[in-house]
Amino acid sequence: MEEKRTLYEKVQSLLEEKSPEEIAEITKGLDSLMLYYRCAIREVETKFRVLDDQLSIHGARNPIESIKTRLKSMRSIREKLERLGLPFDCDSICEGLSDVAGVRVICSFIDDVYMLADCLLKQDDITLVKIKDYIKDPKPNGYRSLHLIIEIPIFLSNEKRSVRVEVQLRTIAMETWANLEHRMFYKNELSEDIKKQTRTMLLECALKSRDLDMEMQAIRDIIEGKKDAEDMQSDALF
Ligand code: GTP
Ligand code: MG
Repeated sequence: MEEKRTLYEKVQSLLEEKSPEEIAEITKGLDSLMLYYRCAIREVETKFRVLDDQLSIHGARNPIESIKTRLKSMRSIREKLERLGLPFDCDSICEGLSDVAGVRVICSFIDDVYMLADCLLKQDDITLVKIKDYIKDPKPNGYRSLHLIIEIPIFLSNEKRSVRVEVQLRTIAMETWANLEHRMFYKNELSEDIKKQTRTMLLECALKSRDLDMEMQAIRDIIEGKKDAEDMQSDALF
């Protein structure tokens, strides 16, 4: 209730400072911007679906389990800009935020994550802005995923725009861990004591999920003839 009133008050003071024409202009600008992000999400999702279709013919299996997309809400955009000390306008959104458009690709195996990232980045309309490999270097809490910030062009009736999209690629095991961790910890006012008590347990779960990924990958490698069971046993020694 308190949060709602604060938000209401903020909107109210914003409206008081601007003329109706200015408000209409800002709203139109934001609507167009959100349209660009929605289009960029569609473009990236389509690229992954095309890759999945093609690889299912050549490799006789689908590397993608599922794709989730999300457009950041206006409220989250406003809160993030506030945290960053940026004004709430189109320029700040475009230049200051990289995660307004989000595409998450859930893969079957770890090597599918890297293979799909490679296939996407090789496409000549994609520009890589930033890569964070939390699979190679997991976060201290155990979080794993491959994050790409990319730019993709979108074509409208009268213009071409380059739009930023955050792509997260992860396996089913990584997704399960991240979803449960997010549900329990995100925006939850947990005491320091509880956090301390659960930190190691959470990390252990992440290590188990990493081991599961590696073992499933090894089994698939044997099935596909990339590795034999003897190699696997000697790998286990290290
Ligand atoms: P944000 O400001 O939260 O977007 O983070 P960032 O700019 O530091 O980028 P980073 O690549 O670290 O994280 C971006 C996104 O990855 C988050 O919004 C989450 O979706 C996901 N993520 C990162 N760390 C964690 C984590 O510890 N747990 C879970 N469940 N998700 C995470
Ligand atoms: Mg984010």
